[in-house]
Amino acid sequence: MLTGAGVSAESGVPTFRGAGGLWRSFRAEDLATAAAFARDPRLVWEWYDWRRRQLAAVRPNTAHDALASFAARAPGFTLVTQNVDGLHDAAGSADVIKVHGDIWDLRCTRCGFAARDTRVPLPELPPRCTCGATLRPGVVWFGEALPADAWARAQNAAVSCGVFLVVGTSALVYPAAGLIDMAKAAGAGVIEVNLDDTPYSALVDVSLRGKAGELLPSLLAC
Ligand code: OAD
Repeated sequence: MLTGAGVSAESGVPTFRGAGGLWRSFRAEDLATAAAFARDPRLVWEWYDWRRRQLAAVRPNTAHDALASFAARAPGFTLVTQNVDGLHDAAGSADVIKVHGDIWDLRCTRCGFAARDTRVPLPELPPRCTCGATLRPGVVWFGEALPADAWARAQNAAVSCGVFLVVGTSALVYPAAGLIDMAKAAGAGVIEVNLDDTPYSALVDVSLRGKAGELLPSLLAC
């Protein structure tokens, strides 16, 4: 299963594209690139700290819950997410493969130190490492490589599964969206769940229109 921002929409988390999407109000070039961070780490951190505050106030929804309970009943189930919000973990999903990182992780820009820090708001912006350098959010920015281990595991799952579910993603951001092509090429049946059409809607085997929080509980009830 590959999830995107649409899975968290019913928790009240804004998606990136479409009505109310973050990239409608903010420029990714100013906030989600290594160049933007080098230029103005405080501005970038203010945005991430604001998102962390929003996320701290929301709860997993019925889509996250359905996935967590399905995983407990389906050995071999693999959950890959593009979401950095931690809501799959909060719902009880274990071993989530996070190909775009995790907003609750902080990483040193110099010494490689990494730690989970769930404080909201962070006491100092930008946060500092004990080595003195600036810490960055543990997320993948535009133009950056995906975490190698997570990406390798995601690809392995995509090419070896029987059924590949794609839920709540516009499937516009690569390489993550390429997992759908990999699964299809390897012979998996591909099921899409989305409110709207995506570039993959005509290519998948089954395309279901609706809210993840409404469709997943029945789709995964077996
Ligand atoms: P998008 O905002 O691009 O797409 C969200 C998708 O969810 C859209 O296709 C919506 O139609 C769908 N959707 C919205 N509400 C839904 C609901 N309740 N049920 C089902 N579907 C719903 O988000 P992503 O595809 O996750 O990357 O975006 C991919 C990446 O682009 C993100 O991980 C992020 C962003 O820039 C990075 O930060 C690197």
